[in-house]
Amino acid sequence: MGSGIGQVFAMRGYDVTLFDIKEEALRRAIENIKWSLNKLKEKDSTIDVDEVMKRISVSTSLVDSADSYLVIEAVFEDINVKADVLMKVSKLNDSIIASNTSSLPISELSKYVREPERFLGMHFFNPPVLMKLVEVIRGDHTSDRWFNQAIELVRSINKFPLPVRKDVFGFVVNRVLFKLFISACSMLSNFTPEEIDYVAMNELGMPLGLIMLLDYTGLDVNYDISKEALKRGFDFNCPVLAEMVKQGKLGRKSGKGFYDWS
Ligand code: CAA
Repeated sequence: MGSGIGQVFAMRGYDVTLFDIKEEALRRAIENIKWSLNKLKEKDSTIDVDEVMKRISVSTSLVDSADSYLVIEAVFEDINVKADVLMKVSKLNDSIIASNTSSLPISELSKYVREPERFLGMHFFNPPVLMKLVEVIRGDHTSDRWFNQAIELVRSINKFPLPVRKDVFGFVVNRVLFKLFISACSMLSNFTPEEIDYVAMNELGMPLGLIMLLDYTGLDVNYDISKEALKRGFDFNCPVLAEMVKQGKLGRKSGKGFYDWS
């Protein structure tokens, strides 16, 4: 999601640097952003692809983040990986530090940053460029000043900020969405993904079916969220996710999931 989030900020005039340890990931991120901007330009000729691209740079070294006003961490949903990145970033930065986590508590992640009052959650939805909502999550130590500043930043990129003042599991959206995912998952023994999604789209009015949405956001991501939920005492078990992730079926990103995306 990092590239999509960076794209949104660049489209609203901010200078953005994308960080990854792998150059290949950065190359792919730039390709994805170009594809997305050209796609958007088909419907809105005022979008200047070159101008937006000029505002985006890439780096494999977090040292280049040192003068940033805002740093958004969007690495894997794994507390050790996130902790490592947050520690490094917060040693270098006096910025607002935000995590795009969907399931890890902000207050727990805040242990890894130097100034927890500047740390909060900024949870985007896929694809960030099209989805209007951003949850802004306040951890136990986030100060009013930086929480309000983050809400203003979200408004400045033309998104709708949803202030989450209590750092509860799943925040607001995933707390609701995961109940639906788990119901859909339990129906897979009797119905096909197409049948379940037909109902979700045609009867519940969802833009994407529930099973397709699992594929769309990544089966690995959803598996990680379900593991975190189970750890925290929520009955969010979907055993087929573990099996599919083990087989390398990660949904849209790997070409195969419940659906064939190749
Ligand atoms: N950039 C630019 N264009 C894009 C794009 C992107 N990143 N992604 C898709 N598009 C384009 C499509 O190619 C399509 O182009 P054409 O019209 O030329 O075919 C166009 O956008 C329209 O797409 P759709 O026809 O699929 O449908 P839509 O316009 O009605 O809506 C959508 C698009 C908003 C993405 C809709 O499909 C949707 O709401 N999907 C559900 C997304 C969702 O629920 N996301 C949240 C998941 S949960 C999460 O992310 C968080 C978590 O914690 C796991």
